[in-house]
This record gives sequence, C-alpha cells and structure tokens, in this order.
Amino acid sequence: AVNYTITEPSVREQDDEWEIQIEKLIIKDVLGEGAFGVVRRGCIITENENVEVAIKMLRDNPTQDELKQFYQEIDIMKSVPPHPHLVSLIGCITRANKWPLLVVEYCSKGDLQSYLRSAWDKLTNPSVFGRVEVPNTKYASNILYDLQAVCIEKNIPQPKDLISFARQIALGMEYLSSLKVIHRDLAARNVLVCENNAIKISDFGLSRDVYHNNVYCKTTGGKVPIRWLALESVTHQIYTTQSDVWSFGILLWEIVTLGSTPYPGVATEDLLLLLKGGYRMERPSNCSDEMYVLIQLERNEKGAFFSQIIYL
Ligand code: ADE
Repeated sequence: AVNYTITEPSVREQDDEWEIQIEKLIIKDVLGEGAFGVVRRGCIITENENVEVAIKMLRDNPTQDELKQFYQEIDIMKSVPPHPHLVSLIGCITRANKWPLLVVEYCSKGDLQSYLRSAWDKLTNPSVFGRVEVPNTKYASNILYDLQAVCIEKNIPQPKDLISFARQIALGMEYLSSLKVIHRDLAARNVLVCENNAIKISDFGLSRDVYHNNVYCKTTGGKVPIRWLALESVTHQIYTTQSDVWSFGILLWEIVTLGSTPYPGVATEDLLLLLKGGYRMERPSNCSDEMYVLIQLERNEKGAFFSQIIYL
C-alpha cells in the first residue's frame, strides 16, 4: 500500500529527489482557482528545452492545517507510481520558497468539465435551450453519422471520444483502487484533458486517508461536493473505493450530458432526502441503455466496476 506518512517541513529529508531548483521554474498565468489556492501555468528550464508545467500553490498566509494538508498531498503524489491516466508529479519546491509549490504535468485542454461545456456550447450555438439535454441524438451509442460530421466540423469530441474519456478515467481509477488510494472527489472538474485527448485524473493527492484493506475513513469539516457523493459519504463521512465508484457514475452522467450539473432542478438541501428515498437521476435522452446501466451501478464488492467499462 501507499505510504502517506506526513512529515513536517523541518524534518523532511534533505536529499529530496523531487525538489526542483527554484531558479529553473518560471511561473506564469492563472489556470484555475480552488478553495485551497491557485494553479498557474509555468515552465521548467532545462538544458535542451523548456517544459510546460502546472504549478499548484496555496494562498498567502495559509493556516497550519492547509500547510499540513498540502505537504500530505505532495507526499501522496510522490508515493503513487506514475500511470498514463493520472496527472504526473514533476517535482516540488518545499525549501527554497516561503510557501511550498507542487509542480505537475501541464494538460493543455484544461479540465474536463469546461471542455465538455464548451463542446455543448459549440453544438447548440446559436441556441435558446438550457443546459439540461443534449440534442436528441444517441450520443453515447449508435453513432449517427451526421452527428459525427457535425463534431468534426465544430472540432468537438465525437461520441467515440466520450466513450474513450470514460474508459481512460476507469483505467486510472482501477489503478488508484489497486493501490488502495481513495480519490474522494472524482468529478469532471478534477479530470484534465491533454493535447492528444489523453485524459488524466487530477487531485488524487487530496485523498487524505489510505487504509490497508479499503475500509472506510472518516473526516471532519470542509466543503463536500454533495452531488458527487455516495449516500454513506454524506450521512456518515464514509469514503471507500465503492464511494469512488458512485462518483464515477455521476462523472459518466456529466460526460453523457456534456457537462451538466448533476440532479438538475433539485435543490442541494433536498438531495439527501431524495437519495435516501431511492431517487436516482433518470436516463438522459441521448444516453444508451448500456451506458445508463453503468451510471446506475453504485458500488461493486470487488472494486471490479472500473474494469467493466474498460472493455466497453
Ligand atoms: N488546471 C489545473 N491543473 C492543470 C494542469 N495540470 N494542466 C492544465 N490545467 C490545469
């Protein structure tokens, strides 16, 4: 299993193979902002070339708790061996700068949620429709050839690309779950798209608890992404690979709907009661029966769910 021991900066190993020399790092514009801090674009200067990177940093004057969590994120990223569908760690700066910096690979097409929404906008523009349904096509299964032509013309993902996104995420999650790492915030906003449409799962270093046999872990405080969470995560703060599977189902729904917000028309405060009563999202009009079956799978005893879609 993964070693997630936290060490405070003062006692961190000095011969850190991941430490980047700060004079080699150029920090550029903001790519995204979260509750924790900011992600900026940048590059690392090497002898032969400049490598584009993304740099994650805390806000100024972070709390002790935020710092601790950030070091923990860095440690988890160091301890997970690279995988083609996880954002790769390039290095970090934990000593030369006032605040720590986490440097990861740059994914030029940004996060999957924005990517899907921009595809939606291109597909429906000019349009008076709200962002609830994609046009009445079988987007996720029997490819309509006119739709394919439209996608090529508008430079947006074709149905087969969407299936490929889902499959790549499943591969990355299968790998994470094999390492007993629980993501806890799997959602389109935490998935990145690269130039060649390769998909990379991001922010898996935020999985704060890694247990040997995949039992649950509890946490306190913090904002929770309730529309992506399994019922037991909301009610009992229980996070497992199975609850990641639930979030994966929601993520499939995001892909099929080209970036809609889950449970459209349902107020956040009503959601828990609805879910407890057995309510689940209906099949989007463009969603194939096969895909809807996968969206509805909420958990799987052996964590084998991810591989099911790998063979789709
Ligand atoms: N936004 C957040 N992380 C990013 C990354 N690694 N590449 C591109 N955009 C990002």
